[in-house]
Amino acid sequence: MRADIRTAVPEDFRAVLALWQAAAEPTSTDSAETLTGLLRRDPGALIVAEADGRIVGSVIAGWDGWRGSVYRLAVAPDHRRDGLGRSLLRAAEDRLAELGARRQHAIVVGTNASAVAFWRATDWEHQRGQQRFTKG
Ligand SMILES: CC(C)(COP(=O)(O)OP(=O)(O)OC[C@H]1O[C@@H](n2cnc3c(N)ncnc32)[C@H](O)[C@@H]1OP(=O)(O)O)[C@@H](O)C(=O)NCCC(=O)NCCS
Repeated sequence: MRADIRTAVPEDFRAVLALWQAAAEPTSTDSAETLTGLLRRDPGALIVAEADGRIVGSVIAGWDGWRGSVYRLAVAPDHRRDGLGRSLLRAAEDRLAELGARRQHAIVVGTNASAVAFWRATDWEHQRGQQRFTKG
């Protein structure tokens, strides 16, 4: 099924949060308030895929002026393996390139087999030997 890929607006937040509940691991930043802050800071960072009036995919293409960060790539279970993940990633890459990002990165949970398989099928490089430190 064809899906339109477009920049999200605040009216999409509820559906995006529902998508993440159904299609992704929960994170402490999944809230309308955080999404409002994201778009205030980086308008256009949230990209969605819509099919038949329903939000079926998402990606955050964040730009802080230094590096492009891809977060929250998710496709509804009933729309997977149809190229939507690839299309969303391409939209994220295009946005980041237009903004001037020369380096982009994404964090992939190593035990998430479908996510690892997806990223391995892209032209992104898997960096070994890097360690991730987090707070919060
Ligand atoms: C990862 C995810 C976004 C992929 O979305 P998708 O729309 O199914 O991906 P695509 O159809 O564009 O797949 C592109 C390629 O990735 C690989 N791939 C994707 N899912 C795969 C799976 N479950 N098993 C094996 N390979 C897979 C395949 O090579 C596929 O190409 P093919 O279908 O022609 O064989 C989706 O599975 C998802 O939402 N998972 C839950 C959330 C998540 O883990 N997000 C990633 C965070 S880093």
